Amino acid sequence: MKTPVRIRNYRPEDVEGIYSAVMASRRELSQWMPWCHETYSRQDTSGWVSSRPSAWERNEEWSFLIIDGDDTVVGGCGLHRLDLKNRVAELGYWVRTPSTRQGVATEATRRLCQWAFQDGGLERIEILASVDNRASQRVAEKAGGVREGVLRRRIRLGGRSHDCILYSILKEDLRH
Ligand SMILES: CC(C)(COP(=O)(O)OP(=O)(O)OC[C@H]1O[C@@H](n2cnc3c(N)ncnc32)[C@H](O)[C@@H]1OP(=O)(O)O)[C@@H](O)C(=O)NCCC(=O)NCCS
Repeated sequence: MKTPVRIRNYRPEDVEGIYSAVMASRRELSQWMPWCHETYSRQDTSGWVSSRPSAWERNEEWSFLIIDGDDTVVGGCGLHRLDLKNRVAELGYWVRTPSTRQGVATEATRRLCQWAFQDGGLERIEILASVDNRASQRVAEKAGGVREGVLRRRIRLGGRSHDCILYSILKEDLRH
């Protein structure tokens, strides 16, 4: 990895950095992230950032930014579909295109899992990757995810339902 990355909570002043990271990656993100649509705007970023604290408080989504050593935004990651009764959540990630293929998503995933097991009280983290999204599958595998099977027509992307590979990560699976 060229630059070490960290994860941290969102701050109101992050809007510009996130917006430019998304704009630099629009083509790649829009294929896999429904929120990155054709009319995505700075206002969408702003609304997302300002909704993070309440989404966290409602245990709807625990969202983090991925930043490099200069505190530049290189992507985002988070835990959603939180099932606190069973101590399970689903983990997602995106990385701005100029920073891909340098291990950023894998390192962010490891860090987020560590946080989730130590501080978030979770026992199991799930990653769902379309059978067509090899880069995402590789991230799950490199972070130590165990492939549990294929979930048929599990996510809707680009106007069609995709089969997904389900990976799970437990504390003891984490690779460093
Ligand atoms: C998926 C994504 C987060 C990966 O981020 P990243 O920082 O490049 O990930 P890493 O560098 O840690 O690892 C990427 C792995 O995927 C591989 N990869 C990247 N692009 C690939 C492609 N088009 N086809 C096959 N493998 C690919 C890399 O070679 C690497 O594996 P390796 O170490 O075995 O060579 C990034 O590509 C992205 O944001 N994609 C769009 C959003 C998305 O798909 N999110 C996940 C939704 S489930």
